[in-house]
Amino acid sequence: MIMEEIRELATRFERYSAHSHISGLGLDKDLRAKTVGGGLVGQKKAREAAGIIVRLIREGKMAGRGILIAGPPGTGKTAIAVAISKELGRDIPFVQASASEFYSSEMKKTEALYQTMRKAIGVRIRETRRVLEGELVELEYNMVPNPYNPTQKIPESARITLATKKERRTFSVGSRLALQFMYSGISEGDVIMIDRETGRISRLGKANPEKRYDIDIDDVVERPDGNVEKDREFTYVVTLHDLDEARAKRGSLLSLFSSESREIDSEVRQAVDEQVKEWIEQGMAELIPGVLFIDETHLMDIELFAFMNRAMESEMAPIIILASNRGFARIRGTDDTSPHGVPLDLLDRLLIITTEPYSKEEIRLIIETRAAEMGLVIENEALEKLTEIGEKNSLRYAIQLLAPANEIAKVKNSARIDVEDVEKAEQLFADVSRSSAYLKELEGKMLL
Ligand SMILES: Nc1ncnc2c1ncn2[C@@H]1O[C@H](COP(=O)(O)OP(=O)(O)O)[C@@H](O)[C@H]1O
Ligand SMILES: [Mg+2]
Repeated sequence: MIMEEIRELATRFERYSAHSHISGLGLDKDLRAKTVGGGLVGQKKAREAAGIIVRLIREGKMAGRGILIAGPPGTGKTAIAVAISKELGRDIPFVQASASEFYSSEMKKTEALYQTMRKAIGVRIRETRRVLEGELVELEYNMVPNPYNPTQKIPESARITLATKKERRTFSVGSRLALQFMYSGISEGDVIMIDRETGRISRLGKANPEKRYDIDIDDVVERPDGNVEKDREFTYVVTLHDLDEARAKRGSLLSLFSSESREIDSEVRQAVDEQVKEWIEQGMAELIPGVLFIDETHLMDIELFAFMNRAMESEMAPIIILASNRGFARIRGTDDTSPHGVPLDLLDRLLIITTEPYSKEEIRLIIETRAAEMGLVIENEALEKLTEIGEKNSLRYAIQLLAPANEIAKVKNSARIDVEDVEKAEQLFADVSRSSAYLKELEGKMLL
């Protein structure tokens, strides 16, 4: 694999944003859960357990093991998994999937699971490159007529001078680089970096501008220290799946005429694994096992479980977090039942965290915290009504009603949500049990 490709691949991991109010587990330094912390309320035991898990993951002591978060719907299983990812930080990959996503017509279910597992493993690659770095203090183009269109002029070459705090150096550059300067809009006064080998130019910011504006879109940077020509270390974080896809694409000329498939050959993965191990041995790379969170675990069947169980033993496996709201359930694809519908040999590998139903006070506090986070003002009576809905229907439904209730208030030109706004929102938007009951009733009528 060439570094060029890796630089292209190195983008930030995508993050899950639906539980946007959650910023962490909300623990103090002794790993005790605060009543309200990190956007979470209550559920202290589970949060404290999750705090221990975060430590184990950081210390690399969770390899080959997994976690099961078990509890009734709406008790914060997903919320806690998201909080774990926030605690782990941006550098550790966190991938969320629902077990239903593994079943598609596009690829085998085991392939879908394997790809998802490899998305949850990062590789941090370091590379030292020779660069020229400094403030561009002089840029002069040598323009010639365009050979294809003589009415136009293009730069045939350019002369540039780069300055650091220590020295100034002048270089002449060829047409390819000169064109890059012209089209990237780089001008004198910019601090730039040129890759010696590839000629790639990056603009780092504007150097010590004379005029300071109160508001300025430019990043101001200092004129660099040291020599103009120097070695710089770069790090890129990519996932194993990124590397698999890049390598598979390179081989795809051969398979141009075979049917389009997004499945990845096992030889490709083997080659990627070997390459990564080689990098690690050379001290160029580091493996960052991330976390794969699988919701609705009971939808997985025995084949997927067996595959995952085996894959967890590999040295390149992510930490698996499963969530289940089933007690005893049949394992799909078999006639056996087991706790949470998870096969016993897999259960043996799992640390189990349980979440408990919320008390009325906790429901009220969660809704209140959530409303505050959304910047909403809510009257007491309205909060009481939502708390009731949270108790009677579900917490998720009560939280979901906040946004429409606020819109209803705004239409009345009110900045506060009152109880009528909540009732109106409840009328207009059904919760899942109501909408499914409604359709069931209709289906019954249509059969007649
Ligand atoms: N302890 C909590 N503190 C704050 N918000 C919570 C808490 N538990 C759940 N929520 C929020 O309530 C909603 C439902 O919780 P969720 O995590 O989806 O439950 P589950 O995954 O157990 O079904 C989500 O919007 C979630 O962010
Ligand atoms: Mg959930």
